Amino acid sequence: MASTRSTTVVPELSLPSGNARPVPVIGLGTAAIFLPPEATKNVVLAAIELGFRHFDTAYFYGTEKPLGEGVAEAVRRGLIKSREEVFVTSKLWCTQCHPDLVLPSLRETLENLQMEYLDLYLIHMPVCQKPGPPVFPARKEDALPFDFKGVWQAMEECQRLGLARAIGVSNFTTKHLDKTLPFATITPAVNQVELNPVCQQPKLRRYCAEKGIHVQAFSPLGGQSWTGERNAVLESQVLAEIAKARGKTVAQVLMYYIFS
Ligand SMILES: NC(=O)c1ccc[n+]([C@@H]2O[C@H](COP(=O)([O-])OP(=O)(O)OC[C@H]3O[C@@H](n4cnc5c(N)ncnc54)[C@H](OP(=O)(O)O)[C@@H]3O)[C@@H](O)[C@H]2O)c1
Repeated sequence: MASTRSTTVVPELSLPSGNARPVPVIGLGTAAIFLPPEATKNVVLAAIELGFRHFDTAYFYGTEKPLGEGVAEAVRRGLIKSREEVFVTSKLWCTQCHPDLVLPSLRETLENLQMEYLDLYLIHMPVCQKPGPPVFPARKEDALPFDFKGVWQAMEECQRLGLARAIGVSNFTTKHLDKTLPFATITPAVNQVELNPVCQQPKLRRYCAEKGIHVQAFSPLGGQSWTGERNAVLESQVLAEIAKARGKTVAQVLMYYIFS
């Protein structure tokens, strides 16, 4: 039975390349590597009930399966009519950044999600590690040169086959984009990077604006503390003062910053 809870309408924007549906400007990240899968699935369901229609996952997070299950359950419960109503991003991990592994890796991701296509497929980072299961932290001895041309051409094939409606990159600097764009017949639709008042990336944002690449923010609240270190963004004294003066929370100030 459909929920009676009210939902919020989030504005959407069209990506500069690819055939993806417009992307809601606020999405739910699922880098929930310490959450049990059932909890991730329930978070996704609750988010859909609240109005979220944009979800970010990655092969590396191990959350593709519970995200897919959450979306499927939302369809069964009538919260959404079909998977078409959500925008789903996933990412190619460093161990998969080999031209011949890109397409099989996307197929594995789709199998995990139980979906026929991704709205957006990103190269997680410009790092190549020897093939195999993800190893974190990365081992120096596993590092290999990154084949920008070969990997990007394989990403383009994913879009041509319709398995990814748009393709892009993540954690790419201007130098990494300089190594990719000369070979690109499809310009990356997105560069997903850390963006918040402590990490403003002005040069990269200008570069991407010139090249027609949409910059997508991750860790807008300063990121999760996986090792117990303090969050320099959420605990910033300056931001606390701004929030107090405006009668807002620091998190609200940070979301305002991203859209200003
Ligand atoms: N492409 C990449 O390499 C990359 C890297 C990092 C993240 N991402 C994506 O971006 C998503 C979000 O990034 P993130 O999880 O690293 O960081 P974030 O969104 O900046 O969140 C950081 C922390 O903020 C806290 N928080 C959340 N809502 C809050 C609120 N209303 N008030 C106060 N604190 C609040 C949470 O801490 P508590 O848990 O303590 O509440 C959360 O762990 C990830 O899930 C992932 O999908 C991508």
